[in-house]
Amino acid sequence: MTDTFKNTKKLYIKTYGCQMNVYDSERMAEALGASGYETVDVPDGADMILMNTCHIREKAAEKIYSELGRYKQFKRANPDLKIGVAGCVAQAEGEEIMRRQPMVDLVVGPQTYHRLPEMMKQVDAGEKALDTDFPEEDKFDHLPNRQLPKRAPSAFLTVQEGCDKFCAFCVVPYTRGAEVSRTPERIIREAQELVDRGVREINLLGQNVNAYNGDDWSLAKLIWALNDIDGLERIRFTTSHPNDMTDDLIEAHGTCAKLMPYLHLPVQSGSDKVLKGMNRQHTAEQYIRLIERFREARSDILISGDFIVGFPGEEDVDFNATMDLIREVNYGQAYSFKYSARPGTPAAERAFVSAEVADERLQRLQALITTQQRALQESMVGKDVDVLLERKGRLTGQMVGKSQHLHAVHITADDLEIGRIVRARITNSETNSLGAILAS
Ligand code: SAH
Ligand code: SF4
Ligand code: F3S
Repeated sequence: MTDTFKNTKKLYIKTYGCQMNVYDSERMAEALGASGYETVDVPDGADMILMNTCHIREKAAEKIYSELGRYKQFKRANPDLKIGVAGCVAQAEGEEIMRRQPMVDLVVGPQTYHRLPEMMKQVDAGEKALDTDFPEEDKFDHLPNRQLPKRAPSAFLTVQEGCDKFCAFCVVPYTRGAEVSRTPERIIREAQELVDRGVREINLLGQNVNAYNGDDWSLAKLIWALNDIDGLERIRFTTSHPNDMTDDLIEAHGTCAKLMPYLHLPVQSGSDKVLKGMNRQHTAEQYIRLIERFREARSDILISGDFIVGFPGEEDVDFNATMDLIREVNYGQAYSFKYSARPGTPAAERAFVSAEVADERLQRLQALITTQQRALQESMVGKDVDVLLERKGRLTGQMVGKSQHLHAVHITADDLEIGRIVRARITNSETNSLGAILAS
């Protein structure tokens, strides 16, 4: 066999949704790379367009169909173009996608994309391919190893998938299936490969990452093992559920040098009544106590969260309890959403809060979070932080990277090596970033 004649086809992948989809898109590109596909940055001229989709809110799902409509022009220009839908909309809607958009050639769920090369053979033969199983085998056993060229200094690594929590609003347990952890051995091997390719920071991913239990290891034990990899400088994890938090994980924030002082811990609401309706299985008070324990372990830890406003049954008093919780926790960062009824979830059957009320609450909540976020950023002006350099800035003489607290930092500096960690002095705070100079 010779490599001199290689028929490369162009693959355009568009990714929606959470970080796990970003990771999955990379792995799908690798899987299809073995079939002669090379990824490109624009859909024009591509031989294959693959949308990796998200089903979490109604808008996210509808966006997929309008985007598919837009791809019609490419199919007209190139009748051989193949169009595929992957991810959580694929899992939730399956064949329905092909019914609504007959030009779709392939539908593949998040647990079966290791079968993509086989599916592409079917598609190339002019057939439609659909696979939304939850197979017995582990897809990661069937994917190529990640021995590829040098890559960006920060990478995602999925360690756990699926969710058994069944929050009353959420589609994830249906689209991603039951909780499954990968073995520590495979994760450590993959982490080493990433580090060999220039990665300095690994963000461990799971829908419920702190429920990790591969070979009966806790997430903290896995983090400690990764801490031993030379050349790996930073470890992060996301997303956690309050009820799966373990003592060793809290403790590691005070003792594990490479574990970053950042915790994304969604609470969704500060009202016990709403939390009950959401089936979150914990109270606002329990969540606050948990945050306190993290702060005792690591006083400068940045807390991030997720909130839903306008959940069925949320009254003013409940919303005010959420605002109180936010004041008490003091977030460095948070994502907030208007409740979106998802077909098939228990809460979708309940009476809605009006859109006007939900809109108004969302605005008030976001304003409060913004105030907290700004105050934290302002308080950092004049301080020195460690920045992992990720790329050159858009302006010349500027480098961009991330602080330990995941703030984007724009440093006035010429051409420093990407992947290096430098000490920088914060000079100013912008809306979504910090400005800095190199610290002497
Ligand atoms: N596993 C993670 C998050 C999954 S989805 C967790 O439990 O935290 C990310 C966020 O989307 C959720 O935290 C929630 O805030 C939001 N979300 C999920 N379903 C939603 C819905 N039906 N309507 C509005 N927001 C939703
Ligand atoms: Fe969805 Fe709840 Fe599971 Fe998070 S914990 S993925 S919000 S069901
Ligand atoms: Fe969306 Fe699926 Fe992630 S629904 S948020 S892409 S797990």
